[in-house]
Amino acid sequence: MKLTLSVIKADIGGYVGHSESHPAILAKAEECLAEYKQSGLLIDYYVTKCGDDLQLIMTHQQGEGSEKIHKLAWDTFVEGTELAKSLKLYGAGQDLLSDAFSGNVKGMGPGVAEMEIEERESEPVLIFMADKTSSGSWNMPLYKMFADPFNTIGLIITESLHSGFAFEVHDVKDHKKITLNTPEEIYDLLIYIGAPSRYAVKAVYSRATGDVAAVSSTQRLSLIAGRYVGKDDPVCIVRAQGVFPAVGEVVEPFSIPYLVEGWMRGSHHGPFMPVSVADSKPTRFDGPPRVICLGFQLAEGRLVGPRDMFDDVSFDNVRRQANEVADYMRRHGPFEPHRLPLEEMEYTTMPQIAKKLERRFSHLD
Ligand code: F6R
Ligand code: MG
Ligand code: MG
Repeated sequence: MKLTLSVIKADIGGYVGHSESHPAILAKAEECLAEYKQSGLLIDYYVTKCGDDLQLIMTHQQGEGSEKIHKLAWDTFVEGTELAKSLKLYGAGQDLLSDAFSGNVKGMGPGVAEMEIEERESEPVLIFMADKTSSGSWNMPLYKMFADPFNTIGLIITESLHSGFAFEVHDVKDHKKITLNTPEEIYDLLIYIGAPSRYAVKAVYSRATGDVAAVSSTQRLSLIAGRYVGKDDPVCIVRAQGVFPAVGEVVEPFSIPYLVEGWMRGSHHGPFMPVSVADSKPTRFDGPPRVICLGFQLAEGRLVGPRDMFDDVSFDNVRRQANEVADYMRRHGPFEPHRLPLEEMEYTTMPQIAKKLERRFSHLD
């Protein structure tokens, strides 16, 4: 059975500040999607949140980029925004960059990850959702899952993984893409994806079967809007088991609190902390950045689950380390590398200050 799994998300208002989603907004989204399920457009859905982002997880048979599905997500965000405005939630409707829907939510603010698949006899999928970070933050974990044998032993000892994976990489600034094959092109791949503010892994495919293994959202809000409007707070869907890495290999990359961009005012690096859904409510210095993971078994499109994958004591150490890294990074205050390089900061006063002080600069001899 051909099935599409769509995850479409937007920050339509924060509670309190940018820290959390309001329960009434989640209830409203639930109400909207229940109607679309009743009408038959959706097979199933699950509504959740990661920090201040509303996440719509949906299954259907309309294919990727379907106008009907994107419209229902857009309408749900618009209804949620009305409610957010009435509660005066913070930044109500902040990710809806346009007043009118024009066929596809891509380029309109919401983040989108979709994959059309032939549902396997048993289809475990893991959905990663992040808050206070940007779209390239999946680069390192996707590399580890699908190309690093120190993470995924299956690449060495399992026939179906041994032929490797193909990575589709997007240049988010120049709107170009390239596909690179692992393991033979890992050095070429890493020169790009090691620079996640510009290059983001959009999708990964099994070279044994050609099947899609992972897709991520690569929308960069600030590039769409041409100014700071909030963080991308990306999502990523990964299939597990069989010809793909095992569930344990898929979550393993998050056992190190690697540094990502997006903390406070989208202008700082901070440790990526894997947490349960309940703990995805970043407060300290508006962070540190969080990642949650929900696991589902698909059954003829039904979303059986979720299991809250980081709600596991085996991630306690990485959370503790993340807090230590957070303390250490914070001590740098306004200095790099805690603060992002000048050209990457989402907020800046540099143009005004440079203009004001222009005349006081003199050339060095
Ligand atoms: C980070 C983030 C927050 C805000 C900060 C200031 O991605 O969303 O750190 O940037 O709270 O928000 P405003 O400018 O809305 O007052
Ligand atoms: Mg927000
Ligand atoms: Mg957010």
